[in-house]
Amino acid sequence: MSQISRGLENVFIKTTALTYIDGENGILRYGGYDIEDLVEHTSFEEVIHLMLYGDLPTKLQLQRLKASIDEAYEIPQQVLDMIYSLPRDSDAVGMMETAFSALSSIYGMLWNKSTNRDNAIKLIARASTVVANVLRAKEGKKPVIPEPSESFAKSFLRASFSRTPTIEEVKAMDASLILYADHEVPASTTAALVTSSTLSDIYSCVVAALAALKGPLHGGAAEEAFKQFVEIGEPEMTETWFKKKVIEQKSRLMGFGHRVYKTYDPRAKIFKKYAKLLSEKSAEARKFFEIAQKVEELGVENFSEKHIYPNTDFYSGIVFYSLGFPVYMFTSLFALSRTLGWTAHVIEYVEDQHRLIRPRALYVGPIKREVVPMELRG
Ligand code: CMC
Repeated sequence: MSQISRGLENVFIKTTALTYIDGENGILRYGGYDIEDLVEHTSFEEVIHLMLYGDLPTKLQLQRLKASIDEAYEIPQQVLDMIYSLPRDSDAVGMMETAFSALSSIYGMLWNKSTNRDNAIKLIARASTVVANVLRAKEGKKPVIPEPSESFAKSFLRASFSRTPTIEEVKAMDASLILYADHEVPASTTAALVTSSTLSDIYSCVVAALAALKGPLHGGAAEEAFKQFVEIGEPEMTETWFKKKVIEQKSRLMGFGHRVYKTYDPRAKIFKKYAKLLSEKSAEARKFFEIAQKVEELGVENFSEKHIYPNTDFYSGIVFYSLGFPVYMFTSLFALSRTLGWTAHVIEYVEDQHRLIRPRALYVGPIKREVVPMELRG
């Protein structure tokens, strides 16, 4: 058994120049840049360039990248129809999987160094069309294709809600896109890598990643964390809830704990800042923020000895809720950002480090048995 790393803990599957995590000190960097710095001074489009081309873009490079995104928002009518034909109460990430499966049938192409990055950029633009329309379909609205604007974040919000977002909302959406853009090789990225290792196409890699992302221990945690705040209902009920649910019933505190971070997740701190800022606009959101802060205090008080702290999903839901998204969309919003990390990692793997991923399982069943014919088995 000593050969097995349960949950592949501390197994290195590839090298990467994309994302650096120091879990002991709570440091996250993309391409050497601190996440705080990137959120403060760059846009999601600049981070796309950084992840796919290794550097932040010049003005001209950024212009070109934006033009490529703007040209790629359109998706085939059949894929839109497919999204709108699903029952309105379908799972949002499941609807994304359906759309991406269809896109893989239409756009799935062979890997090619000269087109991989263009394909990834198109895929990310199409993802925003898919996510906006998953929301619209579930809300019973008509299809909309995002229109070019100053930013990816703004075009996405406009397509989602058919209204012009405020500068503050665009900044918060952009920050969230950057914060969720990549996180090295969590379960979803690993699923994408396994898929890419068979040289399957880049859209299929995203389908595999989406399937892994939606579980509550991974991307689904933002929805679960927010549902806790809704269940608590009033700030003064927090302590009673925590005692009953987390201490007595030993339920996991969602939005807390991380395989790699043994201290505060740096993304949680930034999401908290935006959650505070945006939630000031509505009494309901302010209440959820207040509850979250109290849960955080109790969580840290009880779990810091085990090195369990708020992770990125703890406050992100309050940001999404304040932007107007229903809870069922939170994981899809995470997925939209992460299409960047998934595609950047599979490109890095296929181009520079490719080998079929084929682990082993240590056999522990009966060594050898003779088949007893059915008529003699009783
Ligand atoms: N609440 C209560 N106890 C916890 C929690 C938590 N959130 N997380 C870990 N523990 C305890 C766990 O009970 C165990 O205790 P003991 O050793 O006494 O049995 C110990 O910590 C180790 O747990 P583990 O499950 O082996 O640790 P892991 O490295 O697999 O945990 C995790 C990582 C994310 C699965 C876990 O922390 C968790 O379930 N968190 C809640 C779900 C969540 O917020 N997920 C989002 C993760 S970050 C974003 C993302 O990846 O999408």
